[in-house]
Amino acid sequence: MQFGQFPTTRPRRLRKSDALRRLVQEYALSANDLIFPMFVLPGSNKVEQVTSMPGIERLSIDLLLKDIEECIRLGIPAIALFPVTPSALKSLHAEEAYNPDGLAQQAVRAIKSTFGDAIAVITDVALDPFTTHGQDGIIDENGYVMNDTTVEALIKQALSHAEAGADVVAPSDMMDGRIGAIRQALEQAGHSLTNIMAYSAKYASHYYGPFRDAVGSSGNIKGGDKNSYQMAPHNSDEAIKEIALDIQEGADMVMVKPGMPYLDIVHRCKHTFGVPTFAYQVSGEYAMHQAAFANGWLKKEAVMLESLIAFKRAGADGILTYFAKEAAQLLHSSR
Ligand code: PBG
Repeated sequence: MQFGQFPTTRPRRLRKSDALRRLVQEYALSANDLIFPMFVLPGSNKVEQVTSMPGIERLSIDLLLKDIEECIRLGIPAIALFPVTPSALKSLHAEEAYNPDGLAQQAVRAIKSTFGDAIAVITDVALDPFTTHGQDGIIDENGYVMNDTTVEALIKQALSHAEAGADVVAPSDMMDGRIGAIRQALEQAGHSLTNIMAYSAKYASHYYGPFRDAVGSSGNIKGGDKNSYQMAPHNSDEAIKEIALDIQEGADMVMVKPGMPYLDIVHRCKHTFGVPTFAYQVSGEYAMHQAAFANGWLKKEAVMLESLIAFKRAGADGILTYFAKEAAQLLHSSR
């Protein structure tokens, strides 16, 4: 542009007023996009705060139902359940994972008999809350997680969740071939309408720390990490390969986890496959936001919503987030 000439394009014209800004807005966030992860305790009338996740509680089933009623009122379409297993019930082979009267199975039955289809229930399929060593699978004498032996247990776990009435089973373990194996077993058992949300691109992330406190699976993870099955943060093509396999094996929805540091993967996933794509804004992301809010370093409501619209822009169809209830509330009151 030479001095004296006018710019041909002025992007600022479209930002002149709130009405114009709303008119050209490309993405929107609504309560329909939110999935609330919930921690379930045994017993009744029990509440425990998760220290590293301010505002998040572990609840016994009776209180969980009250909280779910609020989720429904807020228009949240789904919750994801994570049981807190007493250590006496943990074992080397994680048999409690597929106990038909286990905590997750009981919770699913209670939710479904109370609320029916008013909310979708997603269950976590993985063995880590049930193993004494905190790994997501069954280990050999060297501590290595055995793939095919673990898949056998995951099949039983997924079937027990479907039997209890789960709408969606969500394998978060990263074993090879588990989506296909679970899909086959569900079909054979007559659960052809049970959905699978695959944690397809799950990274070996240190952002899961507070979650492991919440479900009590952290302690001393044998071997110290999950690097032999979860993905290295350095890889991107590998995520595309994992997602392709899960889709081929019958996943209805795929997920990328963690969320904000991996939005490039969400974007590649959505644009490569065009399938229902989800992302998990994990416990560590929640914890660091809350720490900054508590210190007055970041403005809570604005930053929360900004963090969530970023997922939509990247291509996510839905977000698992511990902010779900608060965000849904804000979205309703800002209308
Ligand atoms: C268990 C599981 C984890 C999370 C969801 N399912 C932890 C892990 O893989 O160690 C993490 C969720 C969060 O950090 O919020 N397989």
